[in-house]
Amino acid sequence: MFMGIFFAVILFVLVGFQFQAFHKGKCVGTVVCKMGDHRNSTFRGYIAMLVVIKPYRGRGIATELVTRSIQVMMESGCEEVTLEAEVTNKGALALYGRLGFIRAKRLFRYYLNGVDAFRLKLLFPQPELHPFLPMMADRDATQMHDDHSPTSEEFSELHRNL
Ligand SMILES: CC(C)(COP(=O)(O)OP(=O)(O)OC[C@H]1O[C@@H](n2cnc3c(N)ncnc32)[C@H](O)[C@@H]1OP(=O)(O)O)[C@@H](O)C(=O)NCCC(=O)NCCS
Repeated sequence: MFMGIFFAVILFVLVGFQFQAFHKGKCVGTVVCKMGDHRNSTFRGYIAMLVVIKPYRGRGIATELVTRSIQVMMESGCEEVTLEAEVTNKGALALYGRLGFIRAKRLFRYYLNGVDAFRLKLLFPQPELHPFLPMMADRDATQMHDDHSPTSEEFSELHRNL
């Protein structure tokens, strides 16, 4: 599926980690994450950065990087994953939407350039709602859940956590 692409993981001290995708010895994409307690109540994963260099986009590399990160977070006991994305970043919003993230909040002028952000959230543990895990071994199975809409239980859970 990923001809010649090699994925590596780097662990930081405590709860930070990063996945990188390599092609011919060159890093072509990365995701940087951390995990920690949120308001002393929720053990939460956070995606701080995701980027794939232009010539390598559209091949599923970002999806694979994020999916691997989500799996680490799930296995580490996270109850949810969050991140922020510019409201104008259609590519990122589509990517995370496909993976089951919902738009939890709009953050007014969140970025220095004045653009608003969406806070995106993926709630655990409900493996039956996120059968794209484990991993992307079967992309067809993933696509079956592209149009997953949050259930009322997810909304209730979400509002309890806002
Ligand atoms: C966003 C980004 C990481 C996507 O990387 P990628 O490797 O091309 O993503 P994938 O190939 O895994 O894309 C998976 C899905 O995401 C969506 N997607 C990704 N890029 C898209 C774009 N430019 N427009 C619309 N949808 C897009 C599509 O649904 C795509 O599935 P498809 O190819 O079957 O249609 C990459 O464009 C990038 O590095 N952008 C600049 C940095 C950035 O915006 N990071 C996110 C910050 S929140």
